[in-house]
Parts: sequence; C-alpha cells; structure tokens
Amino acid sequence: MASLPKWLETALFYEIYPQSFRDTNADGIGDLPGILEKLDYIQGLGFNAIWMNPCYLSPFGDAGYDVQDYQQIAPRYGTMADMEKLIAEMHRRGMHLLLDLVPGHTSEEHEWFLKSSQKEPNEYSDRYIWTSPDTKQVFGLNKTRGTREGLYHYNFYPIQPSLNYGFAKVTQPWQTPAGAPPVQKTIEGIKDIIRFWLNKGVDGFRVDMAFSLVKDDGPGRPETVKVWQQIFPDINCEFPEAAFVSEWGVPSEAIPAGFAMDFYLQMNAQGFSKLFDFGDPEDLDATPFFDPRGNGDPKAFADEYTDFLAKTKGKGYICLITGNHDIFRRPKSISDLDIKLSYAFIYTMPGIPFLYYGDEIGMRQQNDLYPVEGSMFRTGARTPMQWDTGKNAGFSTADVDDLYLPIDPDENRPNVAQEEQEPDSILNFIKSILALRKENPALGNTADFRVLFAQENTYPLVYGREGGGQKLIVAVNPAARACEAELPCAVGDVLYALGGAAAVIPSASGCTLKMEGESFVIFLA
Ligand code: NOJ
Repeated sequence: MASLPKWLETALFYEIYPQSFRDTNADGIGDLPGILEKLDYIQGLGFNAIWMNPCYLSPFGDAGYDVQDYQQIAPRYGTMADMEKLIAEMHRRGMHLLLDLVPGHTSEEHEWFLKSSQKEPNEYSDRYIWTSPDTKQVFGLNKTRGTREGLYHYNFYPIQPSLNYGFAKVTQPWQTPAGAPPVQKTIEGIKDIIRFWLNKGVDGFRVDMAFSLVKDDGPGRPETVKVWQQIFPDINCEFPEAAFVSEWGVPSEAIPAGFAMDFYLQMNAQGFSKLFDFGDPEDLDATPFFDPRGNGDPKAFADEYTDFLAKTKGKGYICLITGNHDIFRRPKSISDLDIKLSYAFIYTMPGIPFLYYGDEIGMRQQNDLYPVEGSMFRTGARTPMQWDTGKNAGFSTADVDDLYLPIDPDENRPNVAQEEQEPDSILNFIKSILALRKENPALGNTADFRVLFAQENTYPLVYGREGGGQKLIVAVNPAARACEAELPCAVGDVLYALGGAAAVIPSASGCTLKMEGESFVIFLA
C-alpha cells in the first residue's frame, strides 16, 4: 500500500457547495471567483483544505452529479482560467483542493452515453450497462432517447446512466463480468479524468458513491475493492501526494481499497445518525447522541468507531463531518451550545474532520422549499451562505427571484460579519477549537484514541487522546441532565471546558467524573 500523503497529517477540510457559496457576477449562483474571494476567510477560520462539489459541465439534473464533460468547468462557475487561478492561489497559501469525482455514472448528455445509445456498435457500446432488447422495464432501468434497443441501468436518477464496471455475479447474458475487457476501458477512462485534474494541480478528489461501482457485489464489496486496487497503484505512483476521500461509509473496506480517507457517515439501522440529528428534525424517534433529550447510545458509536480505527490505523483516516450537502442541517430546536458540543467532539477526535459551509455560523435546516436541480429533501441544507446583513445576506447582488435558492427568511438568521464580532459565536468557537487542535499534539489527526467510558444508553462519552508526548482525556455530555462516569485513571488539570461544570472525585480505581447537563471538558492526563 502506498504511503499516505504527508499533508493529510494536518489537513482540516471545509466543504463548499459552489452554487451557494458566493456569487460574484450577479447571476444568483455562486462561482469560482467567489471561492477565491473567500480564501482569506476560510484560512482565517483555521482550515487548510477544501472539498468542492462538482463544478463540471452538466445539465444540472442532480446539482452537477450528472457530469456532461469531466474536463470542462460549467460556465456558470467560471472558466478553466478561474480554476487554475484558484488552485495557484490555494497552493500559494499552503492550502489543498479536492474536486468531486463521479466515477459511477455520467449525465445522459455525456458524449460517451450519446454514443453508447446508438444502435450501431462503436467504441462506447459497452461503456454503460445495457440490457437485452426484450428486458422488462423495472426500477433502475430506463429507455434511451437514442436508437439503441434495450434498457440502460442508472445509479441514482434516470438521467445518471451507470458506467459499466461489470457484475460480481453474472445472471443475465447482457451482464459483463467484473474485470472483463469492457470494464478495463471504463477504468482507463476514469483514470484519464483523474490524471487530467491532478496534472492541473488539483490535490485529489472526494469520490462519489465509491462503494457502488461493480453491481451485485457481495458483502465487503470485494469486486469494487478490486477496481480501486487497480486504479490507485498507477495514480499513487504518478501523483504520490494526491489524496482521495471516499463516500463509502465503511472505512474498513474503503481504506484497504486504497482510499486515504473515508467518511464516517454515522447512520443507524433506521437511517438516522448515531451521533447528530441529521434525520428529519420533526421525527421524535431519532435518538442521536448529540441531543439535549439525551436518548442516544454512545456505546453503539464507540464500538463501531474503535473497530474501524483498529482496522485502519496508520493506513488511512476516518473523517467525521459536521454535515454535508445530502443531509439535514441542525434544526432550530438545537441550541448554539448543543452545536458547539457536537463540534467540540468532532475536533477532538482523530482522523480528518470536514465542516460543511455555513455550519461554522450555525446555519439551520430550511423547511418547505421548492427543490432545485434534483435536490429533493436535501434542498433545505443547500441554501446560500449568509455573509452579512446586506442584500441577499451578502451572497449575491442578483434579484431575489434569481437566487439559486432562497436565503433563510429568519430576520435573526446567523451571518459571518456579525458572528465575527461576537466572542461567543459559533464562528469564534470554531476558530478556537481548531486552534486548540493545532496547539495540542494529542488532538492531532494521527494521535492515538481510546474509549474510557461509553456505556449503553448512558451519558457521558469519555475518551483518551495521546500523541507528541501529550496525553489528554476528553469528556462530553450533550444531554440536558447531569451524569457521571467511573474512569479507570486519575485526571490532571482542566485544559479546556465548555458549557456546564465538571467535577472530579478521586476513587480507588481512578476517579469519578461528575458532569452537569450540556458540558464538555478536556483534562491533562
Ligand atoms: C452522492 C452525492 O453526494 C449526492 O449529492 C448525489 O446526488 C448522489 N451521490 C448521486 O451522484
């Protein structure tokens, strides 16, 4: 396995949904010059890396995850020269940029698909998954507007035909076995796209639906793992500092596949977050750990996380996220303190944390919005960034009707300019917790982690961190009620505290930690 890019040891990511970040040409949609303009701001918060959602030419039926041409910038975002300028300016500052690679499907308007949709056999006939002409149309299969008979397989929306990485178990004559020659061509096509951007200086990719390339794959997704194991050796050899983060959600599969990072996506069996309230805010059955109702289960998280960590330590990073463009932002019912408690946890955990734009000011889930570009339930987490109290919250000077999505209508909506002035704002909290992480080696991306207290349906969660000659103990109680924990060790002075008070009483086996409701504390150990 290739060595991990050095820069990841200190990487702290900020995710930008470019549509909604900053519009500089008054068309109501964010753009690359807008990102360039805000690099000072992002760096000033303490971030040194950016993941940007797709910015390629696209009909935007799924917000750009339907790529028409992987090697062109969508005109609404700017030009290739704007991208080159952004890369150069980020590198000048020591920052790194990940683009979003969509390897599993293209737009139905991609040239490959237009050719593949023709009856006459051609170089692209097998680039997508096509059934035999007599196949019945069922969910996941669709008719083309081209001359070809049979149906094509799609991954997400019907406008996103699946590229052909083959089938793990072939049960139909039209299915290509994984690894067969047509699949090799698909793989080479994706490698060329990766090379194109890495040659431009991009530092790597977030990889969309990285887990789902080979169809009907078995447990552990062995055939999809093989595809990545075929892609990475060449790419790592040519670009040893390039980094890839997978949308996989199972680090113990994604890291051996060759990814340097995998998102911990935190869902329980009901599809709700084990950690944060990323589910429907109205759904009272959701029982995340970070909720003042205190119905969460730290043990379920701790068991899964420590298992993933044991299997991946030193080989890749687990990435905790504050949110992303696919999941609900925190609802209005969650207080600023509760948001800070969840961020205090994220930024004192190992691995590489990602913050979704706007989460640094506590932007809230917007309800009842009309979807755009296939956003569905995700619409309310994609509204424009709130920069100040000016027109359109400083996002754009366009007419309000031309905005990509409406701005949060709340007249008390949070904004950057105001939060910069308020010492207790979420924004200043983010700055201070990132600074704390950088100042204390035991909180770093690579430092050790062990669970000290995580019991079923019980608060708090307590963990030890160790690295660079420093040892720390971190405890977090997001529940509104007081709680206590028996720890197997003594603790030293308080390094950092937030919210309610914490007290320590020495005991025969170590100490008893007593925490008030909604509290967080870091002790020296
Ligand atoms: C995951 C992306 O994050 C999401 O936004 C997109 O709609 C699907 N993959 C399909 O590409």
